[in-house]
Amino acid sequence: MIRVGMLTSGGDCQALNAAMRGVAKGLLNSKEQVELFGFLDGYKGLIYGKYRVLEASDFSGILTKGGTILGSSRMPFKNMRDPDENGLDKVEAMKHNYHKLNLDCLVVLGGNGTHKTANLLREEGLNVVTLPKTIDNDLWGTDMTFGFQSAVDIATQCIDQIHTTAASHGRVFIVEVMGHKVGFLTLNAGMAGGADIILIPEIPYDIDKVIDAIKLRNERGSKFTILAVAEGAISKEMAKLSKKEYKKAMENSKYPSVSYEIADLIQKKSGMEVRVTVPGHTQRGGSPDSYDRVFASRLGAEAAKLILKGEYGYMVGYVNREVVKVPLEDVAGKLKMVDPDSSIIEEAKMLGISFGD
Ligand code: F6P
Repeated sequence: MIRVGMLTSGGDCQALNAAMRGVAKGLLNSKEQVELFGFLDGYKGLIYGKYRVLEASDFSGILTKGGTILGSSRMPFKNMRDPDENGLDKVEAMKHNYHKLNLDCLVVLGGNGTHKTANLLREEGLNVVTLPKTIDNDLWGTDMTFGFQSAVDIATQCIDQIHTTAASHGRVFIVEVMGHKVGFLTLNAGMAGGADIILIPEIPYDIDKVIDAIKLRNERGSKFTILAVAEGAISKEMAKLSKKEYKKAMENSKYPSVSYEIADLIQKKSGMEVRVTVPGHTQRGGSPDSYDRVFASRLGAEAAKLILKGEYGYMVGYVNREVVKVPLEDVAGKLKMVDPDSSIIEEAKMLGISFGD
């Protein structure tokens, strides 16, 4: 008998259910007897012993379903060692509930913060296998995370739709794309949607260069310009600030997000009419695309394989088009970012895309 607990933690994304289904089917179709437990709302469920027994039927019809059947929540790693409002030691509580259910393994689906806690649980002696989810694709140790491609599709569709109205009115449009502190989502959606200017955190921008790129388009006969701007995009001046100074400047900013500041500056400095569109959480919503359905199912099945072999302490990742196991201690606490010297940036520039640098 193998007893496996599962949880989804952090911001949700597409294909979480597909991945859990992959794990469950991989286990339930094996020769082993398996019992599955789903902890509710991320690590919270493990801390407070909120779970439900999962049957094969729970995984039926969820391949295409967005969100997570277990619910999710954000529980910052930095506060994990702090007792809760009732003085409960959260780490001890998680260990207690794991042992109380006599689990052989915990499967954790999550992004960066989630992996830090997963690694902490591994250090505390629990058997953990993780799966890389996030629309940001910023997890170290894997070329791809599930959720990313579906989010690229949604952001691309948004840019596509903006194209027609931008062209009709001859306006400058900014589409602000999620991605937290990294630019993978913006870069890919921007290129797929034919954005003229792409601003990502890894390449700080100069607003005058951005305006020059818009003017150049006008001179060449294009009435409109589309900018794909990462929510974490940063100007060259801001990039010079210390972390503390940057945080303070952001707190004191009068703009709701960086795109509004960029729009204001373009408008003031050039007199051009600018509009901002923020697709926001729609990028995380709805059904996974076909790529993510296959990808998450494969990773889920590979996680089942690790569990059946009793190999714990790994994230199932994807490197050079192969599914691989990556030690959790190598993943935790590291951020994967767009390399400004990578070929995709060079190719985008060859296509005439400006990064405002
Ligand atoms: O990490 C995924 C993500 O969607 C980021 O792209 C974004 O910055 C953040 O989560 C938004 O978080 P929340 O859902 O807590 O508002």
